[in-house]
Amino acid sequence: MCGIIGYAGKNQAIPFILDGLAKLEYRGYDSAGVAVVGSDGNLVVEKCKGRLQVLREKIANGDIVQGCVGIGHTRWATHGEPSDINAHPHISMNGKVALVHNGIIENYIDLKKILSENGYTFKSDTDTEIVANILDFYYNGNPLETIQKVIKMLRGSYTLVIIFEGITDKIYAVRKNTPLIAGISKVGNFVASDIAALVSHTRDMYLLEDDEITEVSSEKINIYDIDLNCVKKDIFKVDWDIKSAEKEGYDHFMLKEIHEQPRAIRDTINSRISDNNEIILDNIDLDLENIDKIYILGCGSAYYVGMAAKYAIEKSCGMSAEVDLSSEFRYRFGENTRKMNPNFSGVKRDLRVNKSTLVILISQSGETADTIAALREVKKYGAKTLSIVNVVGSTIARESDYVIYTRAGQEVAVATTKALTSQLSLVFLLAEYMARKLGFIEDTTLIEDLKKIPEQVENLNKSENKIKSYAEKFKTSDTVFFVGRGMDYPVALEGALKLKETSYVHAEAYAAGELKHGPISLVEEGTLVIAVATQDELYEKMISNIQEVKSRGATVLIITNEGNTSAEKVGDMVYYIPKTHELLTPLLSVIPLQQFGYYSAVLRGLDVDKPRNLAKSVVVE
Ligand code: F6R
Repeated sequence: MCGIIGYAGKNQAIPFILDGLAKLEYRGYDSAGVAVVGSDGNLVVEKCKGRLQVLREKIANGDIVQGCVGIGHTRWATHGEPSDINAHPHISMNGKVALVHNGIIENYIDLKKILSENGYTFKSDTDTEIVANILDFYYNGNPLETIQKVIKMLRGSYTLVIIFEGITDKIYAVRKNTPLIAGISKVGNFVASDIAALVSHTRDMYLLEDDEITEVSSEKINIYDIDLNCVKKDIFKVDWDIKSAEKEGYDHFMLKEIHEQPRAIRDTINSRISDNNEIILDNIDLDLENIDKIYILGCGSAYYVGMAAKYAIEKSCGMSAEVDLSSEFRYRFGENTRKMNPNFSGVKRDLRVNKSTLVILISQSGETADTIAALREVKKYGAKTLSIVNVVGSTIARESDYVIYTRAGQEVAVATTKALTSQLSLVFLLAEYMARKLGFIEDTTLIEDLKKIPEQVENLNKSENKIKSYAEKFKTSDTVFFVGRGMDYPVALEGALKLKETSYVHAEAYAAGELKHGPISLVEEGTLVIAVATQDELYEKMISNIQEVKSRGATVLIITNEGNTSAEKVGDMVYYIPKTHELLTPLLSVIPLQQFGYYSAVLRGLDVDKPRNLAKSVVVE
């Protein structure tokens, strides 16, 4: 989604800002812009629709926008179409304030009314322009006091980075429900929406919290709470490998990240398994005996990982776990749900979230708005929260009781690959850890097989040409079905999502048993059906389902375990994954589906790393 950077220093701001915006391009955007406070104190804004390169050309790489403090933005449209006018920064009508914004201001219509009644007029369709003007309206010459007043009036989510007319040495920033960090460096000080924008200049950062107002100059970064008291914070040292943000010879980040999976899985699991196969999960100390309910939450692919986690926990721990989309769950269990009568004298059977509930949240970015909201909601009811997150120091990681980090490294391609398999490896480890804590006999085969996964993934990557040839064969298909049962069902869902988002092909995934209940009517001569069939006890059922679609004309690619040669009698194409523990199969069966999504997009000539309409980190509802 939108990318933000701000700089205050002794050098020209724009080169740093353009460099930072380039690092944020991966988040997805449709327009870009910059603003500085010129040496005469006037605010200068330049912005346009399209890629960053268009902006670079427009401002001659910064030569025509001079100033030592500045702000920059890549916009992913929410209010108003992508256009030059709707692009950020927005400047207030009187030219006193310019700002960039990430998020949504929910009460902007009410604020607009106040401004209109006071003679303000607007150029764009955005909620952001309203905030610039509200700041302008209340500006009393003291930026901190003005920001303090205005944020008390705003509803919704925002990261705002603001410059003021006449203040040639400072920028200001504030956040609510969307990410913001500040970076301290020798070349000047920064704020940004994302660590990636700053790591080439500094690894020393402050992680800013909601309602903290940050004042950045070339000498220092001051942080204030909502009452304008100074806040002291420890510096957070970022340990990212800078190479994650480079393609290193690959055509696309997605392909690079597919190939990085063996390393990512190894890094995620190795330090957590001792030589004698004990599981060491960071500082997690779960009192499982007092947990009677488990919810697993996530969005998109992270939700599919949650489905796999549910199967693994239920099979391993003999307890049921419910998985839900964060965006649904947050309202199912929100404040508006029915309350127990405090005077009721019978046995209280409120089965909703409470102190004996464990909520597991899965998120690559750690900044997904709905997952953050669900986390905050369940904490109100005293639930224990455990998150599985990739981005160190992100909001979900910070606000959960426990966090276990995946060690995938920065994921740049919008379509997740290495973060997903790292998450899968961790949830399988977590399920085994929980089972042992609950007194189940250790499943050492699972651990031994998990350790073999990185090498097996490496081998699947070496044979990617096979999948590339299938992608070539079906490059004109406009509908593809994915089916699976049990642990193969989330894999089918992930395969369909990969194809949809990278290649814009209509792809549907079904639990194979559901085909006869409706979707089979869509199968016709030549429809491609990709069937994932790795679960021994469900294999024969899958073969029957495959026969049903075959007899209606489908062309079927079966992904199954080595040795299941009977698949060749029914499938048109068979792709074998190496033998592994039944619970771990998603770690292998998802690889050909990622490759299929990737090559289908490349062969269609699409921008695989930045698919249309999508953003890497979804920080609004
Ligand atoms: C799909 C994809 C998305 C994310 C989802 C959640 O390839 O990447 O579906 O999985 O937006 O994002 P995180 O994991 O950052 O919470």
